[in-house]
Formats: sequence, C-alpha cells, structure tokens
Amino acid sequence: MGEVGIIGLGPMAENIVINVESRGYSVSLYNRTYEKVESFLKEKCGSLRVRGYRELREFVDSLSPPRLVILMVKAGKPVDDYVAELKKLLSRGDIVLDFGNSHFRDTERRYEELLREGIRFLGVGVSGGVEGALKGPSIMVGGDETGYAEVRELLRSIAAKYNDDSCEGYFGRGGAGHFVKIVHNGIEYAMLGGIAEVYQFLRRVGGLSNGQIADCFSEWNGSELGSYLLEAASQVLRFREEGSEVELVEKVVDEAEQKGTGMWASEEAMRLGVPAPSIDAAVTERIASTSRGDRLALSKSFPRLTYERIGRLLAERLSEAALYGTYVMSYSQGLSMLVAAIESLGYQTEPRRALRVWRSGCIIRSKIVQTAYESEESSSRYLFSTPIFTKGTLERVERWKEFIRLSASSGLPIPVISSAFNYFLMMTSERLPTNLIQAIRDLFGAHGFRRSDREGEFHSTWRLT
Ligand code: 6PG
Repeated sequence: MGEVGIIGLGPMAENIVINVESRGYSVSLYNRTYEKVESFLKEKCGSLRVRGYRELREFVDSLSPPRLVILMVKAGKPVDDYVAELKKLLSRGDIVLDFGNSHFRDTERRYEELLREGIRFLGVGVSGGVEGALKGPSIMVGGDETGYAEVRELLRSIAAKYNDDSCEGYFGRGGAGHFVKIVHNGIEYAMLGGIAEVYQFLRRVGGLSNGQIADCFSEWNGSELGSYLLEAASQVLRFREEGSEVELVEKVVDEAEQKGTGMWASEEAMRLGVPAPSIDAAVTERIASTSRGDRLALSKSFPRLTYERIGRLLAERLSEAALYGTYVMSYSQGLSMLVAAIESLGYQTEPRRALRVWRSGCIIRSKIVQTAYESEESSSRYLFSTPIFTKGTLERVERWKEFIRLSASSGLPIPVISSAFNYFLMMTSERLPTNLIQAIRDLFGAHGFRRSDREGEFHSTWRLT
C-alpha cells in the first residue's frame, strides 16, 4: 500500500482525497486552516485511511521517501509559496505534483527550481470538475519522466476509464501537461460560447421555451453532437427552485466570469502562430458580458432589430448545424495548438495522445473526441480535414450559413459561432484578401512583399505617375 500526501482542501481536493484512498492508498492531509481538515476528517472520512496534520513539517515527516506530495491549491502565488516551503522540507528524489490549473510557463519555472534540489516536479492538468475528481477525472501529465513512471499507477487508478483504458497520459517535459490543460480549457470556453449562442437563437428566433431547448439538447446528445457540456446545459435549462414558476437560469445574471485559462489559451495560440478565433471570441464574449452597466445604457440608443421568427423544427436544424460546425472548428483550433507545441515547445503533444485522454472524465468529452480518436487521420493539424468531419461539415454548411444570416438580421450577437465559421472559410480559402494588406504595409512602411509571379522579396514605391 502506498502513501500519498495531499495539500489543500477545496471541494475538488476533498474528492481527490476520497478517490485516492479508495484505490488502496493511505493519505496524509495538510491545509493552512487546520479546522477545515478536522471537520473534513470527522464528517467525510469515517474509517478511511486519511490523517490530518497541523504542521507542514509533520505532514512531510508522515510520508516515507521517496515522498509523493500532491498540491491542490489555487493557481499562482499559493503554488509558489508551497513550492518554496516544500523545497526546504523535502529530500532528493521526492515527487511533487501540481494538480491545479497552473500556467504552463509557471510550471516550467517551478520544474527547474525544484530540479536544482533534486526534487521531481510534475505539472498535472486535471479535468472533470468536483464530480470528476471523485468518480475519475481526465489527467494530463507533464514534467519529470522518472517521477511520472513512479506515480503512473496511482494516476491510472484514479483516472476516468474509457472502456478499460485509463484517461491519463504523459505529454512530455516541463509544463506539457498544463499546456494540454490550457488547450482543453480554450476548447471548453469555445464550446460553452457556442452552446450559449445556440440557446439564444432557439429562444429568440425559434421561440422555444427552456424546457423545449433542453429536450432538443437531450436529443442531440444521442447524436454526433453528444457531449458532456450539452448534457449539463439541458440539466441547467430544466432546473427550477422549489415553488418557482420559472427556470433558475432565467434569474442568473448574464455576466460570465473566468479564471484566466481561456485567455491563456488564446494568448498562447497567438504566440504559436496558430489561428484560434473561436477561443479568442469566447474569451471576448465573456469580457463583453461583464460590462453589463454599459450594455444596458447603450441598448437604449440602439434599439434591437425585430427578431426573425421561424418554425421550431427549422430553428433546431439550423442550430444543430451551427453547433456541430463550432464544435469541430474549436477542437480543430485546439489540436492545431498541440501540433504547433511539438516543434515550438518540444512537447509530446500529438493530438491523438490528447484525444485518448479526453475521451472520458473531462469537461470537453464528446462523441467528436471519441470519433476523432478512432479515426486514422486524427493526428492531422486540422480536424475538419478528417474525412468524417469534412463530410459532416459540408453536409451542414448551408444550414450553418442560414443560422448566421438569421442571427445577424435579428440583431443577435454570435461571436463564437461566426468566428468558427470564418475560421473554416479562412483555412479553406484558396485566396484571401491579405495581398492588399501586404501591399499597403509596403506602401507606408516599406515592409516588403513576395510576389506570385516571381521568386524573391520585393518593395515598390506604389507612386502613381
Ligand atoms: C475542468 C475545468 C476547470 C476549469 C474551469 C474554467 O476541466 O474541470 O476546465 O478546471 O478551471 O471550468 O473555469 P473558468 O470558466 O472559471 O475560467
């Protein structure tokens, strides 16, 4: 039987403790506020092999070397603070795993810092929310390879299963695991944005009630669009508080918050030179939503167009096409980031590795991920070029266009769905208007340009005689 040390005691950490213990490990627990540990032990641990410690040193001493310590604290400074303290208390050969949503560049830095002391560090992306932590999350690992070999069994045992395969995988050195988690979250943001925009269309243009939209989402869940987030959306759309006449979602303020991982994905896509407009738009949409006061004031001067109205069935068919396209293009953008990271960052982030781990347990699990993993071409940079998705996209393209046209003529903002469509158009365009950008750059800045009729770098005065 192994021993595992866990630091932190948020709702996810509590469930990881129970999950780890249930796999035959004994757990040592530390949290800054000891009272939290005490009440957790009393209320939730019963006869479980979990012991709490008041002092960090006692906690470290309770583990036998090589020690295995899992950090489950808020990303950022709290992780740095613990790394600094643990550095003094741990010994060479010990292994520290950061299960938080840390920025992969921070993970790189911490990896180096601990390596200098001979402590092995693993940045581990864990997805699946509070429930996933208990029942089996999807686990994306990066960092010290020898450390990974020693904790692989533990990670496999607590991870989600797809058939009999554990949804856990190693993606290479340093911050690779957290990089994959950031990409996961970027896709998560785009999928959520797409679902919200379809909900808006079905309500306003299709005239559906929340219950009808929930039914429609449930039906799609049995199709190619099947996904955890759609399942979650239909559950939310049906939920009413006791005695209430309306669904709770109607009373939720329309300001979407974020903790930053979507923005990191967007920033990183730009750095890698990978177009990821649906992720960018999803982040922007959340930011725009938080200017609620401004929106309310401005809406007075810009009254809405009248919503177009179409029948329920047609609204559902158009929405299905728009959401399918958005899903496929968003995964495609994320997978392109993974491909780019192989060369730029030296990670082992072949798309197939990530798809394997994302088949179950994580927030972006879906039929598309499962199908992509099973397809031969799933390591291509562009998911939509895999025959099954090319076919699926082409079959829906006219309906997707119609969704966009009707949204525009109804004055409904659809930044994520339209940017997914533009991504598809851009990446499949034989010719873009960017020749004009090059020419104007050369006119005002002598930036130079290449020509389609001759080799070499050129410059013109563009002076009209
Ligand atoms: C998961 C989730 C989770 C993530 C939030 C994003 O995979 O379980 O990705 O880890 O942090 O869902 O949170 P925000 O929407 O608050 O940025």
